Amino acid sequence: MSTRQRVLSGMRPTGQLHIGHLVGALANWRELQARYECFFMVADWHALMSEYDQSPASLRSWTYANLADWLAAGIDPARSVIFRQSDVPEHAELFSLLAILTPLGWVERVPTYKEQLRELAGRDLATYGFLGYPVLQTADILLYKAHCVPVGEDQLPHLELAREIVRRVHHFAGRVLFPEPEALLTQAPKLLGIDGRKMSKSYGNAIELGAPEGEIRAAAQKMFTDPTRIRMSDPGHPETCNVCQYWKVFAPERAGEMWEGCRTATRGCAQNKRELGDVLADMTRPFRESRERLQSGGGEQAKLEAILQAGAVTARAVAQQTMREVKAVFGLGASVSGVPPGSRNA
Ligand code: TRP
Repeated sequence: MSTRQRVLSGMRPTGQLHIGHLVGALANWRELQARYECFFMVADWHALMSEYDQSPASLRSWTYANLADWLAAGIDPARSVIFRQSDVPEHAELFSLLAILTPLGWVERVPTYKEQLRELAGRDLATYGFLGYPVLQTADILLYKAHCVPVGEDQLPHLELAREIVRRVHHFAGRVLFPEPEALLTQAPKLLGIDGRKMSKSYGNAIELGAPEGEIRAAAQKMFTDPTRIRMSDPGHPETCNVCQYWKVFAPERAGEMWEGCRTATRGCAQNKRELGDVLADMTRPFRESRERLQSGGGEQAKLEAILQAGAVTARAVAQQTMREVKAVFGLGASVSGVPPGSRNA
């Protein structure tokens, strides 16, 4: 048994990953592997909850494409448990139990729920299941008794709900079953899209991790710089220049030189962008290679599937043990010897 604290996180396979996913999540996951016992999950049930009208084939192919990116980012199946949510049916089972105990008002007031209903108005998300999205997320965390959950700020309300549900489960169970999960807020620099707006697939302003090199360089060329710097001889303001921010994130060792050149008008924006294109092209090479291997069809998908299957065996053993404890406490299923009876109504 590992003495390290346990981390669980997940990502929905709903499309190609971009550099925002790398900086905002994957780079952090990679570092966490050294300090925690990590479980990383392809959250296909979660993807289905919001995109159930997509084709089954695309859910599967995004699962492999995203996993290929995870590996290229240094998420290591030898150190972390990497699995697919739907391979561990206990997620759906614990979700049902938590749904029984979760007051309707708690889920209705989750801000991401209201926001998504508004933002994705074109899609029919007024479903029973979608309301339960953060309850399923709670089940994900509790199945592995995770202490820490690396998430972005947008997910904090989900973590808060998870903590409330844990307390409620403990109240009814009459004893403590789970650690109260803590959010590990990713201290990631905010990366804007190439047009200077929030980076998002739906705005078409993101740089995909596995995009062809030419596309990556073209994206760098299109980026907005300091709008007050009209001529090259005008001194610029690197703190408000998106290209200068990218330098800080992707090549911090050269950022000083770039920022100085901008401030003193000794370096032009065009040159800054061209060289940033080189940096981004280099940085994304492993992702391109990983994706090419997958697309070449030479057994790569089978390799990825084998990683998921091996991960599912480990994950499932933990999840089944948790479900045995939870069922015993609530009186579900036959009584199992060796599992102490719950103090419920005792
Ligand atoms: N809801 C998360 C997101 O959209 C994905 C997710 C699913 C997750 N289950 C999780 C994150 C459990 C952390 C822990 O980003």
